[in-house]
Amino acid sequence: MTQHDPRTVYLRDYTPPAYLVDEVRLTFRLAPHATRVLSEIRFRPNSEATHRDFFLHGEGLELISAHVDGEPVTPELVEGGLRLDAPDAPFTFAAEVEIDPENNTALEGLYRSNGMYCTQCEAEGFRKITYYPDRPDVMASFHVRIESDAPVLLSNGNPGERGEGFAEWSDPWPKPAYLFALVAGDLVAHSDSFTTMSGREVALNLWVREADIDKCAFGMEALKKSMKWDEEVYGREYDLDVFNIVAVDDFNMGAMENKGLNIFNSSAVLASPETATDADFERIEAIIAHEYFHNWTGNRVTCRDWFQLCLKEGLTVFRDQQFTGDMRSHAVKRIDDAMLLRAAQFREDNGPLAHPVRPESFVEINNFYTVTVYEKGAEIVGMLKRLVGEEGYRKALDLYFERHDGQAVTIEDWLKVFEEATGRDLSQFARWYTQAGTPRVHVAEDWSDGRCTLTLRQETPPTPGQPEKQPVVIPVAVGLLNPNGDEVVPTQVLELTEEEQSFAFDGLAARPVPSILRGFSAPVILRQVQTDETRAFLLAHDTDPFNKWEAGRDLARAGLLAMIQDGDGPDAGYIDALGRAVADESLDPAFRARLLALPGEDELAQAIFEAGQAPDPTAIFEAREALRQAIADRLGDVLSRLYDTHQVTGPYSPKAADAGRRALTNAALSLLSLSEGGDRARVQYRTADNMTQQIAALGVLVKLGEGEAELKAFEDQWRHERLVMNKWFGLQVGAARPEAAVGIAEALTRHPDFDWKNPNRFRAVFGALAGNTAGFHEPSGAGYKLLADWLLKLDPLNPQTTARMTQAFSTWKRYDESRKRLIRAELERIFETEGLSRDTSEMVGRMLA
Ligand code: PHE
Ligand code: ZN
Repeated sequence: MTQHDPRTVYLRDYTPPAYLVDEVRLTFRLAPHATRVLSEIRFRPNSEATHRDFFLHGEGLELISAHVDGEPVTPELVEGGLRLDAPDAPFTFAAEVEIDPENNTALEGLYRSNGMYCTQCEAEGFRKITYYPDRPDVMASFHVRIESDAPVLLSNGNPGERGEGFAEWSDPWPKPAYLFALVAGDLVAHSDSFTTMSGREVALNLWVREADIDKCAFGMEALKKSMKWDEEVYGREYDLDVFNIVAVDDFNMGAMENKGLNIFNSSAVLASPETATDADFERIEAIIAHEYFHNWTGNRVTCRDWFQLCLKEGLTVFRDQQFTGDMRSHAVKRIDDAMLLRAAQFREDNGPLAHPVRPESFVEINNFYTVTVYEKGAEIVGMLKRLVGEEGYRKALDLYFERHDGQAVTIEDWLKVFEEATGRDLSQFARWYTQAGTPRVHVAEDWSDGRCTLTLRQETPPTPGQPEKQPVVIPVAVGLLNPNGDEVVPTQVLELTEEEQSFAFDGLAARPVPSILRGFSAPVILRQVQTDETRAFLLAHDTDPFNKWEAGRDLARAGLLAMIQDGDGPDAGYIDALGRAVADESLDPAFRARLLALPGEDELAQAIFEAGQAPDPTAIFEAREALRQAIADRLGDVLSRLYDTHQVTGPYSPKAADAGRRALTNAALSLLSLSEGGDRARVQYRTADNMTQQIAALGVLVKLGEGEAELKAFEDQWRHERLVMNKWFGLQVGAARPEAAVGIAEALTRHPDFDWKNPNRFRAVFGALAGNTAGFHEPSGAGYKLLADWLLKLDPLNPQTTARMTQAFSTWKRYDESRKRLIRAELERIFETEGLSRDTSEMVGRMLA
């Protein structure tokens, strides 16, 4: 379907811009329904262009007037923009347009959120502000004048003149239009400063509504840590006199790296101990870092076109992952990243929405801000680093910044700096960017005469549009353990480049136990025939923390699949091995909390599907519950001891050590409640002085079906805190029993505070419904219908968020005939709706193809 969509854009059709821009001057006369934007753009012919057609993007603009070098002109208004006979020499184009921010519900371009003006221009939103060559390979310096009586007026770069009713900003660093930003509103600042490595003083401000000023301190600390870290680890210094962050309630994504003026979804920056959980604090720290790191990876060096999105996103995610590892725990961060990759990216890669990290075509680029581009993109950077080593990586990155500062570049440019800095040929490695799908790596083990041979075979299943796959370069980190648990061969990286390859280890006294894909050294699915004894051995002895965790996960998965597919009971051997591991006081509590998390329902569904059966979501749910019950019954003493001895005392701090203890005690609490009932959770709820403890206890009680009073109390307590109320909405749906989830979601849509036009609130309910696998797939199809109804309601207002949420349906082909029929009917109903947005139509079309 997408193949034939006339709106499809192809990477292979790229041509350089006909004109480049040296400088842009913008004046904004802000008014809710009739904002005037005056532009003066200095163009010059591009010597590298292949044609001289002058085209400016523009959407939903009312053109008031246009001039070329001061002379009035009448441009030809065409679909998506305007055309003009332009001089074959430098000239200035000026225009005045009128736009209506108040009625901009798509949250792209200039819009209003709670009475404040703000912008979102990535990827192609600037064209909703004024006529412009809205493509990332056109970089210019921007000078902005804002006229408004709002007390705070912000734009990119450094502040210039300001006075009664106006302010001016100048951004000296050439940038593409997608990094433009403007904010105007009644805001207050939490301020601080940072002295850069060369001794320059930078003013830092976090702008929020007055009521949120108590939720800024943590974000500010995270910003300063990020600035320091990027200097120390990458040698990158900040380059303006001021760095502003603004918190906005209505935002489609997490946050945006606009030059010198990052705009954040308030959920990604605001936190206080009372209102935010440990997970929120960690996420905020990572997102602040991510957006800050974009200043070099994204802004100073940007993308030539949107197909290169992973160039900035994969690298910046990798950098924020490194940062979080350095701030907290590398082992735990790696486990969390692997869990996310498997739950979301493998799911994407195994379904109708699979696409390469660098896609070859799109209809709507907003649909490609995906886990594949971001998270798999980050994995590719991680593999590169593993292959070239610490030093080679640093050399390559230094060369990247030195060579490409101020440029808009491609994945080829990126790989080239690695080739030149390290002398390595990366032509085969480049397939990671062009080939979709998750490689499977099959392992065969052989032992004779003191030699252990590992034979690795790779295979990538077909994905839409890519029936044939080539072998990729897979770094497989391997270590060998002696039967007594000692490590005989420390970690080394095997490079699997062929379809099949053998690697031998000689001179071994006894048959070793291999530990393969240590540290999750590549984003692949390992297919290894292993006994439960071997898994239990690795869980007990592996020196690699990731594989230690993985061994427990493999055991749990195998046990669950046996319960679901063969009707087995819970595996006591697994539970005992788990009990020993979580009681091991030499292990980090955060790590032990991860050991207690079972493989998710969606992951199990995919495994059953790959084994040739249609997964039954209810049976999967029941099996997980039965295993949890068995763990609770068998490990009651261990869990109770963990709960009691790892409580954090003293005032709340979001620091990693305390968060890890809370994660462990709350994982224990959730299990214990199955054997003991809700008393412990009720006490914790009553005595909690922070959101982590409060919401964990509430979740346990709701899951037990005993949370009525606490839910009510929670609502009364937090009714005026939007971010907290999102949790309240989400938890009820997420923790609901399968047969109740849809009804609860439906009832919540009738709650007076269900402000469905706010993406965070919409996602709180429907993201939670999609995440409640058994509830969403409840056999009547009511979940499918409810979601489809609401997507159709949201689509005309906010296509981006709608399109993103259609992914709840992306696994539909795994299920039984009845569910498939029900989902297909909803997808078709959406697809055939008149006036459906391009965003949603592309997504649904791909799922139906
Ligand atoms: N570029 C942003 C980020 O990754 C994400 C984003 C994309 C935000 C599109 C808004 C719109 O940091
Ligand atoms: Zn990003």
